[in-house]
Amino acid sequence: MELTQRPRRLRVNQAMRNLVSENVVQKESLILPLFVREGLTNPVSIKAMPGVVQHSSESLKHEIDRALALGIGGVMVFAIPEIRDEMGSQALNPDGILNKAVRDIRTQVGENLIVVADLCLDEFTSHGHCGVLDQFGRVDNDRTLEIYGEMAVLLAANGAHMLGTSGMMDGQVGAVRKALDKASFQDISILAYAAKYASAFYGPFRDAVESQLQGDRKSYQQDPSNIKESLREIQLDVEEGADIIMVKPAMAYLDVLHAASQVVNLPLASYIVSGEMAMVEAAAAQGLVDRERAILEILTCLRRAGAQVICTYWALEVAQLLDRK
Ligand code: PBG
Repeated sequence: MELTQRPRRLRVNQAMRNLVSENVVQKESLILPLFVREGLTNPVSIKAMPGVVQHSSESLKHEIDRALALGIGGVMVFAIPEIRDEMGSQALNPDGILNKAVRDIRTQVGENLIVVADLCLDEFTSHGHCGVLDQFGRVDNDRTLEIYGEMAVLLAANGAHMLGTSGMMDGQVGAVRKALDKASFQDISILAYAAKYASAFYGPFRDAVESQLQGDRKSYQQDPSNIKESLREIQLDVEEGADIIMVKPAMAYLDVLHAASQVVNLPLASYIVSGEMAMVEAAAAQGLVDRERAILEILTCLRRAGAQVICTYWALEVAQLLDRK
Protein backbone atom coordinates (compact mmCIF):
# COMPACT_ATOMS: atom_id res chain seq x y z
CA MET A 1 0.00 0.00 0.00
CA GLU A 2 1.31 3.44 -0.89
CA LEU A 3 -0.47 5.46 1.76
CA THR A 4 0.90 8.94 2.35
CA GLN A 5 -1.77 9.93 4.79
CA ARG A 6 -1.75 7.73 7.88
CA PRO A 7 -3.74 9.38 10.68
CA ARG A 8 -2.81 6.41 12.90
CA ARG A 9 0.76 7.82 13.13
CA LEU A 10 -0.59 10.32 15.65
CA ARG A 11 -2.13 7.58 17.76
CA VAL A 12 0.87 5.30 18.25
CA ASN A 13 1.09 5.69 22.00
CA GLN A 14 -0.46 7.61 24.88
CA ALA A 15 2.24 10.29 24.84
CA MET A 16 1.55 10.97 21.17
CA ARG A 17 -2.20 11.04 21.76
CA ASN A 18 -1.73 13.45 24.65
CA LEU A 19 0.49 15.63 22.48
CA VAL A 20 -2.20 16.18 19.88
CA SER A 21 -5.23 16.13 22.16
CA GLU A 22 -7.61 18.97 21.26
CA ASN A 23 -9.69 19.08 24.42
CA VAL A 24 -8.92 18.31 28.02
CA VAL A 25 -11.09 18.41 31.10
CA GLN A 26 -9.74 20.45 33.96
CA LYS A 27 -11.04 20.25 37.48
CA GLU A 28 -11.06 24.04 37.87
CA SER A 29 -13.90 24.12 35.32
CA LEU A 30 -16.20 21.81 37.28
CA ILE A 31 -19.15 22.90 39.37
CA LEU A 32 -20.63 20.50 41.92
CA PRO A 33 -24.40 20.80 42.51
CA LEU A 34 -25.26 20.31 46.20
CA PHE A 35 -28.53 19.74 48.01
CA VAL A 36 -29.07 20.94 51.55
CA ARG A 37 -32.25 20.19 53.44
CA GLU A 38 -33.60 22.18 56.33
CA GLY A 39 -33.90 20.33 59.61
CA LEU A 40 -31.69 17.33 58.81
CA THR A 41 -29.29 15.96 61.38
CA ASN A 42 -27.95 13.24 59.09
CA PRO A 43 -27.53 13.24 55.31
CA VAL A 44 -30.19 11.38 53.33
CA SER A 45 -29.31 9.52 50.12
CA ILE A 46 -31.19 10.17 46.91
CA LYS A 47 -32.84 7.48 44.85
CA ALA A 48 -31.16 6.91 41.46
CA MET A 49 -28.22 9.21 42.25
CA PRO A 50 -25.52 7.07 43.86
CA GLY A 51 -23.25 9.10 46.10
CA VAL A 52 -25.49 12.18 46.06
CA VAL A 53 -27.25 13.16 49.28
CA GLN A 54 -29.46 15.77 50.81
CA HIS A 55 -26.99 17.39 53.17
CA SER A 56 -27.40 18.46 56.75
CA SER A 57 -25.45 21.62 57.64
CA GLU A 58 -22.81 19.37 59.20
CA SER A 59 -22.34 17.07 56.20
CA LEU A 60 -22.43 20.07 53.87
CA LYS A 61 -19.44 21.47 55.68
CA HIS A 62 -17.47 18.26 55.11
CA GLU A 63 -18.40 18.21 51.44
CA ILE A 64 -17.23 21.81 51.02
CA ASP A 65 -13.94 20.88 52.70
CA ARG A 66 -13.50 18.12 50.12
CA ALA A 67 -14.35 20.50 47.28
CA LEU A 68 -11.75 22.96 48.57
CA ALA A 69 -9.10 20.28 49.01
CA LEU A 70 -9.67 18.84 45.55
CA GLY A 71 -9.65 22.26 43.89
CA ILE A 72 -12.80 22.16 41.79
CA GLY A 73 -14.13 25.39 40.31
CA GLY A 74 -17.30 25.88 42.29
CA VAL A 75 -20.42 24.57 43.93
CA MET A 76 -24.05 25.21 43.10
CA VAL A 77 -26.47 25.26 46.00
CA PHE A 78 -30.02 23.90 45.94
CA ALA A 79 -32.01 24.04 49.17
CA ILE A 80 -35.06 22.18 50.41
CA PRO A 81 -37.12 24.14 52.97
CA GLU A 82 -39.37 22.63 55.63
CA ILE A 83 -42.23 24.95 54.76
CA ARG A 84 -43.58 25.47 51.28
CA ASP A 85 -46.37 27.79 50.23
CA GLU A 86 -48.08 29.24 47.15
CA MET A 87 -45.68 32.16 46.93
CA GLY A 88 -42.50 30.29 47.80
CA SER A 89 -42.00 32.78 50.58
CA GLN A 90 -39.16 30.89 52.29
CA ALA A 91 -36.99 31.91 49.35
CA LEU A 92 -37.21 35.46 50.68
CA ASN A 93 -36.48 34.54 54.28
CA PRO A 94 -33.01 35.94 55.07
CA ASP A 95 -32.56 33.06 57.52
CA GLY A 96 -34.24 30.48 55.30
CA ILE A 97 -32.28 27.38 54.35
CA LEU A 98 -30.98 28.65 51.00
CA ASN A 99 -29.70 31.96 52.30
CA LYS A 100 -28.26 30.29 55.36
CA ALA A 101 -26.48 27.60 53.35
CA VAL A 102 -25.04 30.19 50.96
CA ARG A 103 -23.84 32.30 53.90
CA ASP A 104 -22.20 29.33 55.62
CA ILE A 105 -20.54 28.10 52.44
CA ARG A 106 -19.19 31.52 51.53
CA THR A 107 -17.77 31.98 55.02
CA GLN A 108 -16.05 28.63 54.65
CA VAL A 109 -14.63 29.12 51.16
CA GLY A 110 -13.90 32.85 50.90
CA GLU A 111 -12.50 33.40 47.41
CA ASN A 112 -11.15 29.88 47.00
CA LEU A 113 -14.05 28.55 45.03
CA ILE A 114 -17.09 30.01 43.34
CA VAL A 115 -20.38 29.84 45.21
CA VAL A 116 -23.29 29.65 42.80
CA ALA A 117 -26.79 29.91 44.29
CA ASP A 118 -29.74 28.47 42.42
CA LEU A 119 -32.20 31.27 41.79
CA CYS A 120 -35.59 29.68 41.26
CA LEU A 121 -38.79 29.14 43.22
CA ASP A 122 -39.55 25.49 42.50
CA GLU A 123 -38.05 24.20 45.75
CA PHE A 124 -40.07 26.73 47.73
CA THR A 125 -43.55 26.59 46.21
CA SER A 126 -46.28 24.23 47.39
CA HIS A 127 -47.24 23.60 43.73
CA GLY A 128 -43.64 23.01 42.65
CA HIS A 129 -43.59 25.48 39.76
CA CYS A 130 -40.62 27.72 39.14
CA GLY A 131 -42.74 30.83 39.62
CA VAL A 132 -45.90 32.02 41.35
CA LEU A 133 -49.31 31.29 39.83
CA ASP A 134 -51.98 33.72 38.64
CA GLN A 135 -55.70 33.37 39.35
CA PHE A 136 -56.04 30.84 36.53
CA GLY A 137 -53.23 28.65 37.82
CA ARG A 138 -50.76 29.74 35.12
CA VAL A 139 -47.21 30.67 35.97
CA ASP A 140 -47.22 34.45 36.27
CA ASN A 141 -44.06 35.59 34.52
CA ASP A 142 -43.83 39.19 35.63
CA ARG A 143 -44.80 38.74 39.25
CA THR A 144 -42.24 35.98 39.42
CA LEU A 145 -39.58 38.36 38.10
CA GLU A 146 -40.18 40.73 41.01
CA ILE A 147 -39.57 37.88 43.44
CA TYR A 148 -36.47 36.74 41.55
CA GLY A 149 -35.11 40.28 41.85
CA GLU A 150 -35.58 40.27 45.63
CA MET A 151 -34.15 36.79 45.89
CA ALA A 152 -31.10 37.85 43.89
CA VAL A 153 -30.30 40.75 46.22
CA LEU A 154 -30.65 38.52 49.29
CA LEU A 155 -28.46 35.77 47.87
CA ALA A 156 -25.83 38.32 46.88
CA ALA A 157 -25.94 39.88 50.35
CA ASN A 158 -25.43 36.42 51.82
CA GLY A 159 -22.28 35.84 49.81
CA ALA A 160 -23.15 34.17 46.51
CA HIS A 161 -20.56 34.98 43.84
CA MET A 162 -22.88 33.94 41.06
CA LEU A 163 -26.58 33.30 40.60
CA GLY A 164 -27.96 30.48 38.49
CA THR A 165 -31.17 31.71 36.90
CA SER A 166 -32.86 28.38 36.25
CA GLY A 167 -36.56 29.29 36.16
CA MET A 168 -36.95 29.96 32.41
CA MET A 169 -39.07 33.06 32.92
CA ASP A 170 -38.91 35.66 30.14
CA GLY A 171 -36.71 38.57 31.10
CA GLN A 172 -35.28 36.90 34.20
CA VAL A 173 -31.66 37.75 33.46
CA GLY A 174 -32.51 41.41 32.86
CA ALA A 175 -34.66 41.62 35.99
CA VAL A 176 -31.98 40.00 38.14
CA ARG A 177 -29.20 42.15 36.66
CA LYS A 178 -31.22 45.31 37.29
CA ALA A 179 -32.04 44.37 40.88
CA LEU A 180 -28.41 43.47 41.61
CA ASP A 181 -27.06 46.67 40.11
CA LYS A 182 -29.58 48.79 41.96
CA ALA A 183 -28.38 47.24 45.22
CA SER A 184 -24.73 47.87 44.24
CA PHE A 185 -23.98 44.21 43.51
CA GLN A 186 -22.40 44.97 40.13
CA ASP A 187 -19.78 42.25 40.62
CA ILE A 188 -22.20 39.41 41.23
CA SER A 189 -22.37 37.37 38.03
CA ILE A 190 -25.24 35.55 36.35
CA LEU A 191 -25.08 31.98 35.10
CA ALA A 192 -28.01 32.03 32.70
CA TYR A 193 -29.83 28.79 32.09
CA ALA A 194 -30.47 30.23 28.66
CA ALA A 195 -31.50 27.09 26.83
CA LYS A 196 -33.18 24.82 29.32
CA TYR A 197 -35.37 22.12 27.91
CA ALA A 198 -38.47 20.47 29.40
CA SER A 199 -36.64 17.19 29.87
CA ALA A 200 -37.48 13.73 31.15
CA PHE A 201 -33.92 13.60 32.45
CA TYR A 202 -34.70 15.77 35.48
CA GLY A 203 -36.55 12.90 37.16
CA PRO A 204 -34.12 12.01 39.97
CA PHE A 205 -33.52 15.70 40.76
CA ARG A 206 -37.18 16.11 41.49
CA ASP A 207 -36.84 13.34 44.08
CA ALA A 208 -33.75 15.06 45.42
CA VAL A 209 -35.62 18.30 46.09
CA GLU A 210 -38.87 16.50 47.01
CA SER A 211 -40.60 18.38 44.21
CA GLN A 212 -44.31 18.96 44.66
CA LEU A 213 -44.84 19.44 40.93
CA GLN A 214 -48.00 18.06 39.35
CA GLY A 215 -47.99 18.17 35.56
CA ASP A 216 -45.01 19.63 33.74
CA ARG A 217 -43.03 22.78 32.98
CA LYS A 218 -43.72 22.89 29.25
CA SER A 219 -45.18 26.40 29.33
CA TYR A 220 -41.79 27.80 30.31
CA GLN A 221 -39.06 25.23 29.61
CA GLN A 222 -38.25 24.57 25.96
CA ASP A 223 -39.48 21.95 23.54
CA PRO A 224 -36.68 19.41 22.86
CA SER A 225 -37.44 19.60 19.13
CA ASN A 226 -36.22 23.19 18.81
CA ILE A 227 -32.84 24.80 18.29
CA LYS A 228 -33.66 28.16 16.69
CA GLU A 229 -35.65 28.88 19.83
CA SER A 230 -32.52 28.19 21.88
CA LEU A 231 -30.48 30.60 19.83
CA ARG A 232 -33.14 33.23 20.44
CA GLU A 233 -33.22 32.53 24.18
CA ILE A 234 -29.43 32.72 24.29
CA GLN A 235 -29.34 35.97 22.36
CA LEU A 236 -31.87 37.51 24.74
CA ASP A 237 -29.88 36.44 27.79
CA VAL A 238 -26.70 37.88 26.32
CA GLU A 239 -28.48 41.17 25.67
CA GLU A 240 -29.95 41.17 29.18
CA GLY A 241 -26.51 40.89 30.75
CA ALA A 242 -25.75 37.20 31.30
CA ASP A 243 -22.13 36.37 32.15
CA ILE A 244 -22.15 32.63 31.36
CA ILE A 245 -24.60 30.85 29.08
CA MET A 246 -25.80 27.38 29.97
CA VAL A 247 -27.36 24.67 27.82
CA LYS A 248 -29.19 21.94 29.72
CA PRO A 249 -29.38 18.91 29.70
CA ALA A 250 -26.00 17.88 28.30
CA MET A 251 -25.70 14.67 26.33
CA ALA A 252 -28.64 14.82 23.94
CA TYR A 253 -28.10 18.57 23.44
CA LEU A 254 -24.53 18.75 22.15
CA ASP A 255 -25.74 20.28 18.89
CA VAL A 256 -27.27 23.17 20.82
CA LEU A 257 -24.07 23.68 22.79
CA HIS A 258 -22.05 23.67 19.62
CA ALA A 259 -24.38 26.05 17.83
CA ALA A 260 -24.18 28.38 20.83
CA SER A 261 -20.39 28.24 20.77
CA GLN A 262 -20.42 29.53 17.19
CA VAL A 263 -22.39 32.66 18.02
CA VAL A 264 -21.75 33.55 21.67
CA ASN A 265 -18.67 35.37 22.94
CA LEU A 266 -19.30 34.37 26.55
CA PRO A 267 -18.18 31.25 28.40
CA LEU A 268 -20.58 28.36 27.90
CA ALA A 269 -21.71 25.89 30.51
CA SER A 270 -23.26 22.46 30.31
CA TYR A 271 -25.10 20.57 33.05
CA ILE A 272 -25.02 16.77 33.20
CA VAL A 273 -28.43 16.40 34.80
CA SER A 274 -29.66 13.84 37.28
CA GLY A 275 -31.24 11.45 34.76
CA GLU A 276 -28.13 11.46 32.62
CA MET A 277 -26.04 10.61 35.65
CA ALA A 278 -28.54 7.92 36.64
CA MET A 279 -28.34 6.27 33.22
CA VAL A 280 -24.57 5.97 33.40
CA GLU A 281 -24.67 4.74 36.99
CA ALA A 282 -27.34 2.14 36.21
CA ALA A 283 -25.47 0.86 33.17
CA ALA A 284 -22.19 0.73 35.09
CA ALA A 285 -23.82 -1.06 38.03
CA GLN A 286 -24.90 -3.78 35.62
CA GLY A 287 -21.41 -4.04 34.19
CA LEU A 288 -22.57 -2.70 30.82
CA VAL A 289 -20.08 0.18 30.59
CA ASP A 290 -16.78 1.05 32.24
CA ARG A 291 -17.97 3.72 34.65
CA GLU A 292 -14.85 5.91 34.97
CA ARG A 293 -14.11 5.85 31.26
CA ALA A 294 -17.71 6.68 30.45
CA ILE A 295 -17.70 9.64 32.83
CA LEU A 296 -14.45 11.09 31.50
CA GLU A 297 -15.59 10.54 27.92
CA ILE A 298 -18.82 12.47 28.51
CA LEU A 299 -16.96 15.39 30.09
CA THR A 300 -14.38 15.49 27.31
CA CYS A 301 -17.10 15.50 24.67
CA LEU A 302 -18.86 18.39 26.39
CA ARG A 303 -15.59 20.31 26.15
CA ARG A 304 -15.31 19.40 22.49
CA ALA A 305 -18.85 20.63 21.84
CA GLY A 306 -17.97 24.01 23.35
CA ALA A 307 -18.46 23.97 27.13
CA GLN A 308 -15.89 25.69 29.32
CA VAL A 309 -17.84 25.08 32.51
CA ILE A 310 -19.38 21.73 33.40
CA CYS A 311 -21.89 21.20 36.19
CA THR A 312 -21.72 17.61 37.33
CA TYR A 313 -22.57 15.51 40.37
CA TRP A 314 -19.33 13.67 39.60
CA ALA A 315 -17.16 16.79 40.08
CA LEU A 316 -15.26 15.60 43.17
CA GLU A 317 -14.70 12.14 41.79
CA VAL A 318 -13.54 13.50 38.44
CA ALA A 319 -11.13 15.85 40.21
CA GLN A 320 -9.65 12.79 41.95
CA LEU A 321 -9.43 10.87 38.69
CA LEU A 322 -7.69 13.77 36.98
CA ASP A 323 -5.22 14.09 39.87
CA ARG A 324 -4.37 10.41 39.50
CA LYS A 325 -3.74 10.60 35.75
C1 PBG B 1 -35.23 23.79 38.64
C2 PBG B 1 -34.11 22.88 38.33
C3 PBG B 1 -34.22 21.57 37.87
C4 PBG B 1 -32.93 21.09 37.70
C5 PBG B 1 -32.07 22.10 38.07
N1 PBG B 1 -32.82 23.21 38.43
C6 PBG B 1 -35.40 20.73 37.69
C7 PBG B 1 -36.46 21.14 36.76
O1 PBG B 1 -36.32 22.09 35.96
O2 PBG B 1 -37.49 20.50 36.83
C8 PBG B 1 -32.59 19.72 37.22
C9 PBG B 1 -31.22 19.27 37.50
C10 PBG B 1 -31.02 17.81 37.36
O3 PBG B 1 -31.90 17.07 36.90
O4 PBG B 1 -29.91 17.37 37.73
N2 PBG B 1 -34.84 24.91 39.38
